[in-house]
Amino acid sequence: MSISVIGAGNVGMALGHAFTQRGETVVFGLPEPEKYQSAVSALGPLAKVTSTAQAIAASNVIILAVPYAAVAGIAQSVSDWQDKILVDATNPLAPGLAGLTVGTTTSGAEELAKLARGARVVKAFNTTGAENMADTRYPGGSPMMPLCGDDADARQRVMALATLIGFDAVDMGPLMAARYLEPFAMTWIHLAIKQGYGRKFAFGMLRRG
Ligand SMILES: NC(=O)c1ccc[n+]([C@@H]2O[C@H](COP(=O)([O-])OP(=O)(O)OC[C@H]3O[C@@H](n4cnc5c(N)ncnc54)[C@H](OP(=O)(O)O)[C@@H]3O)[C@@H](O)[C@H]2O)c1
Repeated sequence: MSISVIGAGNVGMALGHAFTQRGETVVFGLPEPEKYQSAVSALGPLAKVTSTAQAIAASNVIILAVPYAAVAGIAQSVSDWQDKILVDATNPLAPGLAGLTVGTTTSGAEELAKLARGARVVKAFNTTGAENMADTRYPGGSPMMPLCGDDADARQRVMALATLIGFDAVDMGPLMAARYLEPFAMTWIHLAIKQGYGRKFAFGMLRRG
């Protein structure tokens, strides 16, 4: 079964690289697929690029890796998502990374779930830099990937995908926890960009016992 990734920028390509390296087929969906043909071909024979609509139709797991401004249009472009798992890797960033435009009594993911009729929305892959999605190896252990969604089966399936590419997948429970995960993404962004830590770090979860 393939994974579809809508968007082929930093996050889309990083996830596409990570999944194809583990033998998964990835179908990229883009408004202008031809623009990305050579970049996607470079990922090898398991990666394909097509229109957004065809990519959504192709898989039961669809990862949104697009600017937040594009999310609503994509959600509403499908009249019935037919129980597909819609993974929201986006963040509702304010211009200049000045903060978030959605929260704290809702989240981008919850707003997406209202628009994507019939989809099982899971928030994931939004809390760390794209480089960490392409390569999860750190000397101190596995970077964490917290995720949430109202459908337990969908959550488990996305946890399996995060684990497959080397993350320590952390179950945050219902989709309302995206209200915490989107600001958590800002913590990474703030450290990396505003505080000058750079992009070569990741958050991990320490456990006792
Ligand atoms: N960069 C990170 O480290 C990072 C980490 C975690 C989460 N995020 C979040 O992930 C999302 C993507 O970030 P990014 O850095 O990968 O962005 P990006 O490099 O700008 O890539 C965005 C991709 O989305 C495509 N796209 C734009 N509008 C679309 C539409 N209507 N339908 C389908 N595809 C569309 C773009 O295609 P065109 O080139 O044709 O416009 C491009 O391939 C953002 O919401 C961001 O906040 C980013």
